[in-house]
Amino acid sequence: MSHHHDVDVVTNNSDNPHILDVVQARFTRRQTLLGGLSATTAALFGGLTLTGCDSNDDNDSDGSSLPAPTLNFSAVEKNQLDKITVPAGYSVAVLYALGDALDDATPAWADNGTETAESYEKRAGDNHDGMYYFGLSDAGKFDANRSDRGLLCMNHEYNSSPYIHPNGYSPAPRPEEEALKEINCHGVSVIEVKRTGAVVSVIKGSAFNRRITPNTVMDMAGPVSGTAWNKTLFDATGKTTRGTINNCANGYTPWGTYLTCEENWNGFFKRPSAVDNANRSAREIAIFNRYNLNNNADSQNWSTVVPADASTTVFSRWDATKKGTSTDGSDDFRHEPHNYGWIVEIDPFTSTSRPKKRTALGRFAHEGCWPAKAVAGQPLVWYMGDDNRGDYIYKFVSKANWDPADIGKGLAAGDKYMNEGTLYVARFKADGSGDWAALAYGANGLDEGNVLFSFANQADILVATRIAADAVGATKMDRPEWGAVNPVNGEVYMTLTNSNTANRLVTGTPTAGTRQALTDAANPRVYEDKKAGSNQSGNVNGHIIRWREDGSSNAATTFKWDVYLFGAQEKADATATTDEAAAYQANVNVSSLKASNDFSSPDGLWFDPRGVLWIQTDDGAYTDVTNCMMLAAVPGKVGDGSRKSITSKLGANTRTVESPVGKAAEETTLRRFLVGPKQCEVTGIAMTPDGKTMFLNIQHPGEESAGGDITLPATYGSHWPDTQANATSTKRPRSATVVISRNDGGVIGI
Ligand code: FEO
Ligand code: CA
Ligand code: CA
Ligand code: CA
Repeated sequence: MSHHHDVDVVTNNSDNPHILDVVQARFTRRQTLLGGLSATTAALFGGLTLTGCDSNDDNDSDGSSLPAPTLNFSAVEKNQLDKITVPAGYSVAVLYALGDALDDATPAWADNGTETAESYEKRAGDNHDGMYYFGLSDAGKFDANRSDRGLLCMNHEYNSSPYIHPNGYSPAPRPEEEALKEINCHGVSVIEVKRTGAVVSVIKGSAFNRRITPNTVMDMAGPVSGTAWNKTLFDATGKTTRGTINNCANGYTPWGTYLTCEENWNGFFKRPSAVDNANRSAREIAIFNRYNLNNNADSQNWSTVVPADASTTVFSRWDATKKGTSTDGSDDFRHEPHNYGWIVEIDPFTSTSRPKKRTALGRFAHEGCWPAKAVAGQPLVWYMGDDNRGDYIYKFVSKANWDPADIGKGLAAGDKYMNEGTLYVARFKADGSGDWAALAYGANGLDEGNVLFSFANQADILVATRIAADAVGATKMDRPEWGAVNPVNGEVYMTLTNSNTANRLVTGTPTAGTRQALTDAANPRVYEDKKAGSNQSGNVNGHIIRWREDGSSNAATTFKWDVYLFGAQEKADATATTDEAAAYQANVNVSSLKASNDFSSPDGLWFDPRGVLWIQTDDGAYTDVTNCMMLAAVPGKVGDGSRKSITSKLGANTRTVESPVGKAAEETTLRRFLVGPKQCEVTGIAMTPDGKTMFLNIQHPGEESAGGDITLPATYGSHWPDTQANATSTKRPRSATVVISRNDGGVIGI
């Protein structure tokens, strides 16, 4: 079967009968931002002097007070090796792989699938994704400046791996042990890491080590908590729920907590609409339709388990069919999907703390949650993307103004800043301006009389965020993935990983009720590309958009934007028609990428505190030439390029739009830093404050192993991470966190 580097299947799940979907729930990456970093911390980087930087809170600043870093490494060539390749003078060490034990009492990974389900509560989960490093003081508190001791928080996005079982997946009805093991492979890891000399290790048995899984009890916080939307058999009050799932990218808070983001959670629920819709209100059905909860099979068939303990609901909860007779949903799990799709706050410094779902930030396929720089006395701002074809970019502005005295106050600070505020959605205009439309009850027609949905209060808007955003005319984007805020000048970047043709037509009329839209200035490309002889079309290689808020506050409601960078091949495919090849540089490789920096499907994105932008790919389009990769960039700023006319072409149809496009890339400003192992996705990145240790996640190496993902394949598509040191390894492939460092102990990348 085909495998998926994106959410196509999840958005179109009506014909996905079973466990294959597991694997199809395929998504990607992530990350984070260093707003709020102290000048002291930043000064540790590369010897930069940040005098004047702290006062550089004016978004209109050109950033001239912070010197632009200079990339200083040799570009890595595209390749299809089964290992991570890094520039000369750099090293890779595997830190934390699928199944690694968090304490000494848990047996080591045996490479044969014999690990117990329960043991995964003390082991690394699968598909490592978004990640953040929190410095840890001797007193066990958050210390943003600490590089040799920290807590690494990371997501385990999903379970795509047959390798956790002795012989792969068993069909439905699923064996309880297998299903529980898969469930426990999801969620989040918190691990203490220590650096001694050049060696970074996990502190096994640390009191901070923790696995959060889909069974971890969590509070519902904010406007939706305790409403009729989220009452279940587990909690008739609707104030708590269990777990988090499909945690993709991440975020963090300036007070020192981790944000994990629920992306393609919908695919885990069973809801046969032909049966269930008769028992649902029109509003519920509208939500299910817009959130792809129609005719779902639960992707891993967990609800088919017949548990030994008949009273447990850890499996039955994944069936959202209305089964009970109550009017409030307190006797079944009809409302359980509404407890997912949120931003979840975790305090990694208190291992017994109960995570909180911050419902004020809206509900959708949350990729990540990236803070703007925290400015004392001003609201806090987080940027978010909804990774679904034709979905939107959001921001949340807190009601409370930032007080740095709240650093270290954990979830109590979250209660202060993340339960009340205004959620906005972005509208990009063709002239390079844009605005943020408030998704607030009573504003912009969001009330009981709205033609799309009768919104009776803010909780309704938050549960049905996508519908509210539809109602205010948000701009349909080519799948928003990670965001990042430039510490130099406050500008915000977001990857738009790719889209297929049906989502962005060159011409014609989009079909009502679909996510189709014509190409526009912010999403201007549709073209045909060849991959190993077959055709693919759409915005095949994706792009990165950026914007600068107007005025002096991140809370502004207007902005200026351009397209920072377009993914593309250096040149058209050898099999392209003469016509396609002639137009390739003008209409596809608009950013003038060369062999040293061409890429496809940007996904992970992270600014380090020095202003180096790290771009990670989750690609299925250029993989006939190269594995997924990571590049380093030194971007300019919004408006440093020019308006360009871009012609999309599909068959005989063409459409030309004009877009504001950033300055073309050069090897000095964009360079390939790393290529991952076979069939992987490079996702998740963090760095110690001194810039000398980089943490990186590799997800699902070998996902296209012969035999598919159901049974244990006879031939693995990868043997990484063992192949990092042993090229002839025959071991099972595993997602893993690696440490990258410079052999001379210097700062990375510059
Ligand atoms: Fe999980 Fe949108 O990547
Ligand atoms: Ca992603
Ligand atoms: Ca992706
Ligand atoms: Ca190609």
